[in-house]
Amino acid sequence: MANINVKISRSEKTYPIYIEKDDITNLKLKITQSLRSDKYLVVISEKVEKIYGKILGFSKDEKFVLKDGEKEKNFENYKKIINKAMEKGLKRNDSIIAIGGGVTGDLAGFAAATYMRGIDYIQVPTTLLACVDSSVGGKVAIDTKAGKNLVGCFYQPKSVFINLNFLKTLDERQYKTGLGEVVKYIFIEKNCKCQVNFSNFMSENTGKILSRDLNVLEKMIEICIKLKVSVIEQDEEEQGLRKILNFGHTYAHALENLTRYNKYTHGEAVVKGIKFAFNLAEKRSLIDKNYRYFADDILGKFNFTEIPDYPKDKILQIMKMDKKNYSSKITFILPVDYSTVEEFSLYEDEIFPSR
Ligand code: NAD
Ligand code: GLY
Repeated sequence: MANINVKISRSEKTYPIYIEKDDITNLKLKITQSLRSDKYLVVISEKVEKIYGKILGFSKDEKFVLKDGEKEKNFENYKKIINKAMEKGLKRNDSIIAIGGGVTGDLAGFAAATYMRGIDYIQVPTTLLACVDSSVGGKVAIDTKAGKNLVGCFYQPKSVFINLNFLKTLDERQYKTGLGEVVKYIFIEKNCKCQVNFSNFMSENTGKILSRDLNVLEKMIEICIKLKVSVIEQDEEEQGLRKILNFGHTYAHALENLTRYNKYTHGEAVVKGIKFAFNLAEKRSLIDKNYRYFADDILGKFNFTEIPDYPKDKILQIMKMDKKNYSSKITFILPVDYSTVEEFSLYEDEIFPSR
């Protein structure tokens, strides 16, 4: 078992992240003992409820069961959660417990952030992506018709309970999706100023990672979280350093939007975005061929879904609307050296030269 403490310097907030592989039957007690009151609302993903509902042991009346899929991270479900919290009479020292993947965590976290100007929320991530990324760092949001995560805020959880046993039932596609966010850390590690040599760890343990060896997964998740925490502790609201966590995401968000969020998962799109960033960096002579081969090699080991190139003009049109841009230029995080990235703002023809 590993415990990581997050200390947000700006707000002086702290919270624990527990990573463990204990029996899931003990989880309810651990969570409820950590709360400030005995009143709470559990927001749980439908699939997780089907598989783990009985073992977890929360009663029907304590739960809001959220249907699965990105399209459920919407205003309608936000309203339903707020109404359920009101019906239950939740007050300011009560809590919302989010059990599921990033969709559940982002939505329930946003409801907690805004209910009575903010009540405690507990993240119980059950996908690999949620363990290594979305449950940590306090980005909470819902989607609108105009795009993903357009209504949201930064609101840190009270605690994060990661139980590795949940990962045993993830389907292969969702597991690989999480690995897409995991491999991202290989290429940004030096900016995080954490000495972990994550690329070695990932190369040496590829087989065990792919076969979900829980001891190796525990270490892998711990490293990813330590890297992320080292970034968000310095820059909670993405004013500078935190932007590195968007490595691969400029292209990924455009691709997800172009394919209406139903063709590729977020992690699949991020891997394509990482490859795109490496191509662009090589074309702009920011990196040499050897680093590019190194990246291809390590990504190749994980057998990610191959995604074809999409029409440049369509991708560009969407990239231009990215909320991370400040001007008519498009913002990218690009590799500049081994495990090191930098932010660049580029004109269209610097991204896709016309000849
Ligand atoms: P998800 O929440 O949609 O979960 C994926 C699927 O896995 C769902 O069908 C779910 O029911 C199922 N599932 C969950 N746990 C399971 C388990 N233990 N066993 C079997 N099936 C299980 O997707 P995700 O990849 O976890 O999260 C994607 C979301 O996260 C997106 O909305 C994205 O915007 C958001 N996100 C947020 C942040 C952040 O910092 N807040 C970071 C990255 C991604
Ligand atoms: N997932 C990117 C971030 O948390 O900033």
